[in-house]
Amino acid sequence: MMKGFEMYTKRMAQLVLGIFLGVAACGNSWAQKFEGLASTPQMGWNSWNKFACDIDERLIRETADAMVKTGMKDAGYQYVNIDDCWQGERDADGNIQPDPKRFPSGMKALADYVHGKGLKLGIYSDGGATTCGGRPGSRGHEYQDARTYARWGIDYLKYDWCNTQGLNAEGAYTTMRDAIAKAGRPMLFSACEWGISKPWEWAGQVAHSWRTTPDIYNCFDCEFSPGLSTGLGVLRILDRQAGLRKFAGPGHWNDMDMLEVGNGMSEDEDRAHLSIWAMMASPLILGNDLRTMSESTRRILTNPGVIAVNQDRLGVQALRVMADGPLEIYAKPLDGGQWALMFLNRSNQPVDVRHDWKAEVLTDGLSNRSVDFKRTVYRWSDLWSTKTGDTSVNLQARLAPHSVLMLLLTGPTKPQGV
Ligand code: GLA
Repeated sequence: MMKGFEMYTKRMAQLVLGIFLGVAACGNSWAQKFEGLASTPQMGWNSWNKFACDIDERLIRETADAMVKTGMKDAGYQYVNIDDCWQGERDADGNIQPDPKRFPSGMKALADYVHGKGLKLGIYSDGGATTCGGRPGSRGHEYQDARTYARWGIDYLKYDWCNTQGLNAEGAYTTMRDAIAKAGRPMLFSACEWGISKPWEWAGQVAHSWRTTPDIYNCFDCEFSPGLSTGLGVLRILDRQAGLRKFAGPGHWNDMDMLEVGNGMSEDEDRAHLSIWAMMASPLILGNDLRTMSESTRRILTNPGVIAVNQDRLGVQALRVMADGPLEIYAKPLDGGQWALMFLNRSNQPVDVRHDWKAEVLTDGLSNRSVDFKRTVYRWSDLWSTKTGDTSVNLQARLAPHSVLMLLLTGPTKPQGV
């Protein structure tokens, strides 16, 4: 028999614990992002680069159809993401609604359609009161919006950073992460804060990826700065990844922005662009019109070897191992002792490569891997052609302007000289 005082003490203890648990749960201090959604970099399509605000439900449905028909889905692309300008007004209760003219069937019907194709649907919002396109943002409506997206069947949220003056980025993104957790539907959370507050330092626990730079601009080596906004070409974005590789890994990626492959660069530039994003373990989000793309664009985007490098389960972002004028070499350690090597010609002149494998030990301190080609021979295969070879002889190649040679190294095959 418990004495009166002991019972009282026990009840009080239970009450205090209950209050503590309740407060903790309400404050979501245990909320987490959904794990396992981006154990390799996410792959999909997004409407912005090609269509900007000129989007509607027909485009999204036709893109989902094309994603299946053109082999993109089989190649690994799975998210169909609607970017800015899908929003209409909030209703009297503050619930966000899609633009009734452009999305008359509503988002639930669209999600059902996309899911019916075995694909996933993504949507876009912004941490400020309005989006970059001037539509309603989620500020002050985070939990309500996350609930709405979950009800619609949304699988992915890109969360932008326009009109957020005075807001703390880590706080705002954490609020939305917690709102998604509370809504209960797994959604990949893609932070789009352009690298301003160094999201790589805080977003690992908050988002599945974070943009590292201003928006991509559809060119290989140029920059576009009208007024306050900046657009960066492929090489400019690559150069801004210096020092960031240690922050990336399974479930949390440096996002170099959406692809411009198929939007007008040359084929060599498109191949180099995709190769760079693959080496850097960046999300691969297509940005072209899948319904009308050329066969050569389709083949570039579905290159299985290059995609496999991006999707390698170790999830180690490439390091630059050599820079010699316009020629740079990047290396990415892969699962099972393999490596990917990318020779990049940055210039608009051809460059001759003569690479002595044995001159230096290939080393990556981050993944603690190294190869001494004096002691071991690796076989290589060119991921953009059918060429093969091995590291017992020097590599010789001519790189066209703005092009790459991307090799998969497998081995070791045999000790040198045996
Ligand atoms: C920002 C983002 C882009 C795109 C537009 C939409 O610029 O960085 O990727 O989402 O907003 O307005």
